[in-house]
Amino acid sequence: MGRAVEDGEKRAGGLAAAGRAVDDRLGTAGFLKRNIGKAFPDHWTFLLGEMALYSFVVLVATGVFLALFFKPSMGEVVYDGSYAPLLGIEMSQAFASTVHLSLDVRGGLLFRQIHHWAALLFIASICVHLLRVFFTGAFRRPREVNWLIGVTMFVLAIAEGFAGYSLPDDLLSGTGLRIMQGIVLSIPVAGTYLSFFVFGGEFPGEDFIPRLFTVHILLIPGLLLALVTFHLAIVWHQKHTQWPGPGGSERKVSGDPTYPVFLSKTVALLFFTVAVLAGLGTFAQINPVWFYGPYVPSQVSSYSQPDWYVGFLEGALRIMPAWSTTAAGHTIAWNVLVPAVLLPGAFFTLLALYPFFERWAVADWRVHNLLDRPRNAATRTAIGAAVVAWYGNLWAAGGDDVISTYFHISIEWLVWFFRAGFFLFPLLAFTLTRRLCLSLQRRDLRTFEEGYETRLVLGTAAGEYVPVHAPPSPDQMAALEPRHPKELETHRPRLLPLPTPRKIRARMKARANRFYVDYQNEVVGGGQGRGSGGGIPD
Ligand code: HEM
Repeated sequence: MGRAVEDGEKRAGGLAAAGRAVDDRLGTAGFLKRNIGKAFPDHWTFLLGEMALYSFVVLVATGVFLALFFKPSMGEVVYDGSYAPLLGIEMSQAFASTVHLSLDVRGGLLFRQIHHWAALLFIASICVHLLRVFFTGAFRRPREVNWLIGVTMFVLAIAEGFAGYSLPDDLLSGTGLRIMQGIVLSIPVAGTYLSFFVFGGEFPGEDFIPRLFTVHILLIPGLLLALVTFHLAIVWHQKHTQWPGPGGSERKVSGDPTYPVFLSKTVALLFFTVAVLAGLGTFAQINPVWFYGPYVPSQVSSYSQPDWYVGFLEGALRIMPAWSTTAAGHTIAWNVLVPAVLLPGAFFTLLALYPFFERWAVADWRVHNLLDRPRNAATRTAIGAAVVAWYGNLWAAGGDDVISTYFHISIEWLVWFFRAGFFLFPLLAFTLTRRLCLSLQRRDLRTFEEGYETRLVLGTAAGEYVPVHAPPSPDQMAALEPRHPKELETHRPRLLPLPTPRKIRARMKARANRFYVDYQNEVVGGGQGRGSGGGIPD
């Protein structure tokens, strides 16, 4: 017993000495003292960003292992490994080394599969994290910079995933690269030059895979790492947003202390993420390239599909009519340029600019540390739903061949269905969602004024039957508190009855303002609520 205490003291002494040594050199004690008790609001949706972070950690760790064995070379070799069906077949070193890594290197297949699953989860969790930030208005002032960093990371993550998917030089990834080259070629005037520059000559050439390797293992991960660091430093500095709740305000953060509560939860999430990815990598086969064989430009297998996050681009390409224009010896391939260059370009630009558009429209320059309940920002929520419907339609269109075969529906019919859906589904989603939000706002208002229905009915002496209501809890009350957001209504100036630029601008702004604010007139909480922390039921 005495010895154990002594040992413990010695260890503590050693630790304390080590701590002092680090503090002497880096001055860490002050930083830790200031931050270790920092309040961290608690809600399950705040874990989504962390899930993206931990999948990125898994990607880097497994990627380092893969890089030890992968050979980024287009040099021709004849396969002589352990997979009999490929014996004697000519292929690039990139493909041969991927097959070798999968079937001959101990643990190689497991690492490949975990890496691939982690890439899918990384981008999926980025998307869901983005949606939560969008639907709760967490992007509003002062968090616009983090939104912009987020959109940049989103684009980089897709590019990183596509680069990794293309490296093995198998039949499926080669097909994807060929489409990518077609997209580059569709850029008017510069396309041909760009393609020659990127591929170092004709497609596929010898240079591209080594170049892509550098981009995949160095350039994009480096950029992502730097941006993730900025992103988290900004979250730390600005503090986390929180749900409206009792006893708090826009200025006060309430939540668990960083150490030990937040830290234990987040480390548990790291372990969960690693465990789920390891489970998937062990039991769920993904990208078995030895079945596909090496890339041969003249071949393509049926049901070729990209990884899920590129599906919406594939869908856009599939439903675009075959339009092109030839003028002065140049052909503009609208059928590729519009769906694969202009559409994603417009999508990501609008996504990046959205916070600034909303701020302009509702003239809301206030600092927001409290989140909106999605129903209380009906127009924003409806816009989000429309974009999700638009994206989902394109995504499904990317698998039209598979849908056609499995459900015995003609492919031509499907193409027309998705073309119509491109316009109709977003409109439908927008209208339905906005109506639904308004109804929820009305219900909240009633609950606020009358309380919850208990399903009990009281019979009075006068022979009347009166439903019994129970008052909402203080937590619920804080979330329900009504406040008409009058201050968000733009002042509509009186101007000369001439279409001057000032008048047109003012009109546009007034219209945009009404587009948002008219649907918040019955807002309960006005997006601001009464307090902070824990008001919303899970
Ligand atoms: C590599 C990808 C990303 C990682 C690792 C990441 C990580 C995180 C983490 C851990 C947080 C704090 C916890 C949370 O609110 O979930 C956070 C907050 C935030 N993220 Fe991200 N994120 C990524 C991408 C994005 C994207 C694509 C956007 C939006 C376009 C975005 C916008 C934000 C904003 C505005 C906050 C502050 C939210 C608040 O305080 O409520 N992030 N991010």
